[in-house]
Amino acid sequence: MSSAQQVRRGRFITLEGIDGAGKSTHLSFIRDWLARHDVDAVFTREPGGTPLGEKIRELLLAPDTRVSLDAEALLAFAGRQQHIAEVIAPALDAGRWLVSDRFTDSTYAFQGGGRGVPFERIRALEEWVQRGLQPDLTLLFDLPLDVAAQRMSGTRVLDRFEQEAADFHQRVRDAYLRRAAAEPGRFAVLDSSRSIETIQADIANHLQTLWERG
Ligand code: TMP
Repeated sequence: MSSAQQVRRGRFITLEGIDGAGKSTHLSFIRDWLARHDVDAVFTREPGGTPLGEKIRELLLAPDTRVSLDAEALLAFAGRQQHIAEVIAPALDAGRWLVSDRFTDSTYAFQGGGRGVPFERIRALEEWVQRGLQPDLTLLFDLPLDVAAQRMSGTRVLDRFEQEAADFHQRVRDAYLRRAAAEPGRFAVLDSSRSIETIQADIANHLQTLWERG
């Protein structure tokens, strides 16, 4: 996607996982690590990341939204197209790093695995919207469902996805793990049931490798 010859394209990192897997806990660690290494980085999220995307996020997460399976996937990709055009591509083209809290693997996991939208349909949208753009590194925070559910319980009102039954979340987790197995070069699967320090040591190693990559 880069048009600039002299500016090296930035790095694109995504964070993924089932609800309650703890990715937000590690965002500030990633932010600090990049700042310590003088990396100019943009932090963003999906659904969201742009004014349009944040409106779509509200619709997707509101417990009272009625939406068909395909409309849900299309909304995710409509927000993503805007996010790429407005935020992601410009940042990477300017040589900045971009860290997105969720991206297309979430659509494969939640709409594909969770809801049952065929993967081929998601792949067609991915090709249309991303035109080959893929993250350089995807950190998949993985942990058993019961641990994730415990972490989420009692804190706040649950959104439309968090309210889904355990079998939905199990299918989401399985879809993530299948994707990670199919693309081991891009994915780092982090066992989130370990201590925060151990997980962060792992994250630091992955960031270091990406940083050193020529
Ligand atoms: P978050 O609070 O972790 O950002 O969660 C947003 C929710 O949106 C989460 O339950 C996963 C869901 N989601 C999808 O269903 N499809 C998508 O494409 C994305 C990006 C998120």
